[in-house]
Parts: sequence; C-alpha cells; structure tokens
Amino acid sequence: MNLKRKDLLDIESLSKEEIELILETARPFKKLFTQSIKRVPTLRGKTVALLFYEPSTRTRISFEVAAKRLSADTVDLAVGNSSVQKGESLIDTGRTLEAMKVDFVVIRHPENGAAKLLSDKLKVHIVNAGDGTHEHPTQGLLDLFTLKEKRKDLKGMRVVILGDIAHSRVARSNAWGLIKMGAKVTLCGPPALMPAELGKMFGKAVHIEHDLAKAVRSADAINVLRIQKERMMDGLIPSFPVYTEQYGLTPKILKLAKKDCLVLHPGPMNRGIEIASEVADGPRSVILEQVTNGIAVRMAVLYLLAGSK
Ligand code: CP
Repeated sequence: MNLKRKDLLDIESLSKEEIELILETARPFKKLFTQSIKRVPTLRGKTVALLFYEPSTRTRISFEVAAKRLSADTVDLAVGNSSVQKGESLIDTGRTLEAMKVDFVVIRHPENGAAKLLSDKLKVHIVNAGDGTHEHPTQGLLDLFTLKEKRKDLKGMRVVILGDIAHSRVARSNAWGLIKMGAKVTLCGPPALMPAELGKMFGKAVHIEHDLAKAVRSADAINVLRIQKERMMDGLIPSFPVYTEQYGLTPKILKLAKKDCLVLHPGPMNRGIEIASEVADGPRSVILEQVTNGIAVRMAVLYLLAGSK
C-alpha cells in the first residue's frame, strides 16, 4: 500500500488510515537502526534536495540521514550562499532544482503555505519541513509514533500541548494528528499565546485550559513547545521568568500528572524557561527517542511518497 498523494504538506488533510500507514511503515525502518548496516537500497538513484530558509538541526539532519539510509543522494541547498540572496523567487529556485531532476524537495520556510506553493507549481515530491506557523507534519507524525510506541493505542490518551500555541506549527500538526487518532487533546498556555482562530480550527475537538495545574491533572503525555523568541512580538508575555513561573514544566508540576506521564519536546529546548532540566533529562522524558524516531518516520514518508501515484 502507498500514499495516494504526491506531497506531504500537512496532517490536517491526512486520513487516519494514511497516518496509520506512515506509522506502521516506520516501524521496520526503526528496527534497521540496531543493525550494523543501517541502509537499504529502496531509493537508490533518487535525489532528495533540502531547501531550508530557516535554521534547523533536527529536521534537516534527520531528513538527510533518512534519505541516506534509503540509499538516496542528498543535496543541501545552503540558502545563505545561494541565488536566493540575489532575489531569486521560491518558485524559480524550485524550478531550478526540478530541472536538475531531483525527485524530492524538502522545504522549510518562514511563510505559511510555502510548501503548498511549490506543490502546485512542481511535479517533484514536496515535503513540508515546517512552514511559518502553519504545520510541521513530520514532527507531528514522529510525536504520534513515539506516543504509540509507548502506549500502543492513542485512542482516549490524554495529551497536553503546552506553551506558545500561537506561533507553533508543531502544536497544529500534533493537534490534527492526535484528534484523528482519537486522543483527548488539551491546549494550555497564556491567553496571549492562544490565537482566537483555534476555536474555529479545532472546535470542540480540543479542550483549552489556561491553568497549567488543571491541564496536567490526569495527563498521559505533555508535549512542551519551545518559546519562539524569534517570532515573539514584544509584550505577549510579561517576561520569561513570569512565563516559567506560570507555564514552565517543572518536577513539581509534573507530579500532578499521571505517574507514568510522558514528556515530549520537539527541540530545540530553552532549558529553564519552558522546561526544567530535571524534567528534560528525567525518567519520563522521551525527547531523544523522538529524535531517533524522526529518522524512521521520515524514511517512511520518503518511501511511501516515492511509490505514490
Ligand atoms: N523540531 C524541529 O523542527 O527542530 P529543528 O528546528 O532543529 O529542525
């Protein structure tokens, strides 16, 4: 079975069956990581172009490792040294890569809809690696994979997405994925970081809670979002210490959740702001497992898109 789509742009448009297919396909790829040879010939002869207009450590390297473990070639377009600096448009850069006969363009861009724009104009497979505040679908999928690996069934699981919801594409992708898989989602953060359109977007499918102690009670998992200093408009929060006091995930707050509550964070972390180091490095943290799982999930996405109609 393959995905019946050329591109992966978001989780909102994925069906539950498509999400399950991606997660199931990722499982055997993860098993490969314990072998001495971690590579399969599946995408030999294919080329994956990495087109990142924003900084990234995890996602960029994860896609590169995923492509290489599938035996694909990778080209990493250093946007800072490219013709983008001479004013070349996104579409012209995309068309240039297509003319070089790459098979995939993995794009991260500060504007919502950038991946969709390339998807509409190009025949190559487009994978959204994060567009503005819209979505970061492979992050959402790797978070689902991590939760499912630990708890088997996502249905009925109580998951809190905590922090800067307003600026977070990770929050949107996670919320869509969790809702489709039947989890109970609570969005928690200060009112100024909870956009009004959330109600319209998710309706009654998510619970909104501004009180962190209430939100984490009986939680099975807490996904802590990064405070995005680069997207933060002045004055949205009084100060980082005040934010930490009210919304930081500390050992004291974590004690209010279920005993085996999992802690996730997409990274990069602001230790001591949205998450205490004791929590990030503690026994309930699955943050580094998320990173490992990200490679397996991205291998699954590349593999399934390559075989799509
Ligand atoms: N989680 C995530 O997107 O991290 P990077 O910005 O390092 O890719």
